[in-house]
Amino acid sequence: MLKRSRRLRVSEGIRDLVRETTLSLNDLIYPLFVVEGTGIKKEISSLERNYHYSIDRLPEIIEEITKLGIKSVILFGIPDKKDACGSEAFNDNGIVQKAIRKIKELNENLVVITDVCMCEYTDHGHCGILHGHYVDNDETLKFLSKIAVSHAKAGADMIAPSDMMDGRVRAIRDALDENGFKEVSIMAYSAKYASAFYGPFREAANSAPSFGNRKQYQMDPANGNEGLREIAQDLEEGADIVMVKPALSYLDVVKAAKERFNAPMAVYNVSGEYAMVKAAGKMGLIDEKAITMEMLLSMKRAGADLIITYFALDVARWLKEEE
Ligand code: PBG
Repeated sequence: MLKRSRRLRVSEGIRDLVRETTLSLNDLIYPLFVVEGTGIKKEISSLERNYHYSIDRLPEIIEEITKLGIKSVILFGIPDKKDACGSEAFNDNGIVQKAIRKIKELNENLVVITDVCMCEYTDHGHCGILHGHYVDNDETLKFLSKIAVSHAKAGADMIAPSDMMDGRVRAIRDALDENGFKEVSIMAYSAKYASAFYGPFREAANSAPSFGNRKQYQMDPANGNEGLREIAQDLEEGADIVMVKPALSYLDVVKAAKERFNAPMAVYNVSGEYAMVKAAGKMGLIDEKAITMEMLLSMKRAGADLIITYFALDVARWLKEEE
């Protein structure tokens, strides 16, 4: 007998009833870039409609985020001063620490996640402490732990290490616990690939390495099984949420990880993925809204529970239109 699969596609009502995956406001995390100074809201040229905000300009964007019903932001800081060991990253009065306090004052219910990495804070642009041209893993762990504790002290709800050093989740977990932050969670950038899709971000965060690349620590895009081993290790070390980054080209890793570990998973819909859609949309080659919603839905379908995306505000508006 012919199986008539089209029966469940004949009307919008039926299609709605049998839909397997949905995208909701609860899935979205919006990246926010904060800078020193006052009166600054400056569009990031490589990430159109995303801005650098000084602390005093945060109220307008936090109000917009709150009104749209977005539940969470992830913070990136661009400091004024950089040095070899990224001291501004663990300065209790650093840019991210100030931003956390400000945001919590504006909306204490907004979940504040902080990106913990050193590349925006080191004068060489690498994600850790250098010995010659090699990033020293264990030395870097001490600094990552200090950064995490400093963020927690400022009021961060969740710490997201994006450096790819071995053992950072355990080191950060121990440091948080020892300092009385047992309830602060860790979302680990677990399978983070050395990807060309980060290009526009490095301009936004002024974090391009001054020499070489990040292939000593970020993963080879060819390796799916290794990504699963990284995720397994981070879960064992105490990660509460694990992440695959970038998203689109790595959905196989997301799917396999969800099936294997059944843990809360995030993906990072990175800057290059955003920029490509924006550029093609502007050229009239694609329908930006439809493409974006389809892309984000595919991330959910693959197994992501959370999506960090520069489209978060647009998506929140689009979801409201459809209500
Ligand atoms: C910091 C960091 C990067 C991104 C998030 N955290 C850049 C990098 O690893 O080079 C990329 C985000 C994006 O491209 O949107 N290490």
